[in-house]
Amino acid sequence: MHITIKRPDDWHLHLRDGAMMKAVLPETTRDFARAIIMPNLVPPVVTQTDAKAYRQRIMDAVPDGAAFEPLMTLYLTEATDPGDVVAAHQNGTIKAVKLYPAGATTNSASGVTNMDRVMPVLEAMADAGIPLCCHGEVTDAEIDIFDREAVFIERVLAPLRTRLPDLKVIMEHVTTKDGVDYIGETEKNLAGTITTHHLIINRNHILVGGIKPHYYCLPVAKRELHRIALRKAATSGDGRYFLGTDSAPHIDPLKENACGCAGCFTATNTMSCLAHVFEQENALDRLEAFTSLNGPAYYGLPVNQSTLTLEKTDTPVTYPVKIETGEGHVTVFDPGFDLHWRVA
Ligand code: NCD
Ligand code: ZN
Repeated sequence: MHITIKRPDDWHLHLRDGAMMKAVLPETTRDFARAIIMPNLVPPVVTQTDAKAYRQRIMDAVPDGAAFEPLMTLYLTEATDPGDVVAAHQNGTIKAVKLYPAGATTNSASGVTNMDRVMPVLEAMADAGIPLCCHGEVTDAEIDIFDREAVFIERVLAPLRTRLPDLKVIMEHVTTKDGVDYIGETEKNLAGTITTHHLIINRNHILVGGIKPHYYCLPVAKRELHRIALRKAATSGDGRYFLGTDSAPHIDPLKENACGCAGCFTATNTMSCLAHVFEQENALDRLEAFTSLNGPAYYGLPVNQSTLTLEKTDTPVTYPVKIETGEGHVTVFDPGFDLHWRVA
């Protein structure tokens, strides 16, 4: 048994920089033609000049023979110049701008503390048709970490979309039924990415039977009812949902730590995991929409010409438990079940 789909894209990816980037990039270029590259480096990618330089470093690290196009983003700060953003989009340097509420996640200290301060940038983006990728979590200390996405929708996203209905928004790594319901109510200018791991794990996987740091990511996995809602959305074929793996490598000593970093590294086995999930949901015929068609349609980009074939095998497909990066080992996401789909 096999299926052939248009070559997938990853609409949310962390590549990092330096030796780490060189080690993780082939894990993505093996299966994906393009990826939206997250700008949360240290220091972040904030200007057009930063994005051009980072893009070049990525291009220099693409393995020989791989065809890969990094789709660059800028990290929105309260000092971002609207003119620089519009120029960067017009000349093709960037495809989107990323909003991190300050302190929401890994390397987000330069993020936004008050949306009013970035309104001129967002207005310019709405006029120029530049998409805004949102890390959709509030950071207020009094809001429970499991509620931070739902409260973001109510306090930040809904008011923003009322104020700027023409702004094209992507609610990234949706983790709740609340997020799915909010996107489902919307006709226009809102889409959601869903990660591989949030289709597979719920919060029990992190916490039951001993703490599992490699399942800890942000937004944190929620209860089972949310995972079910995400599966339904991802496998529905609905054009508003597409894959953003949020594959986020951290070396093992920083994950297996008293204050462990957030992030699951899924680049290596994402397509195998997704084929498994879509088959379980009797939706293999909708895998292509999720990984290869809906994203380009929303971003206004062509679908890839090339294809990818997945074949089902009797013996489980094995992946390395860890990859070596030159900075240390990075553990590959363990779905917790045997994988029988492999990329041909
Ligand atoms: C990401 C990272 O490590 O950069 N971590 C994560 O848990 N997803 C940051 C992010 O996307 O939130
Ligand atoms: Zn991310």
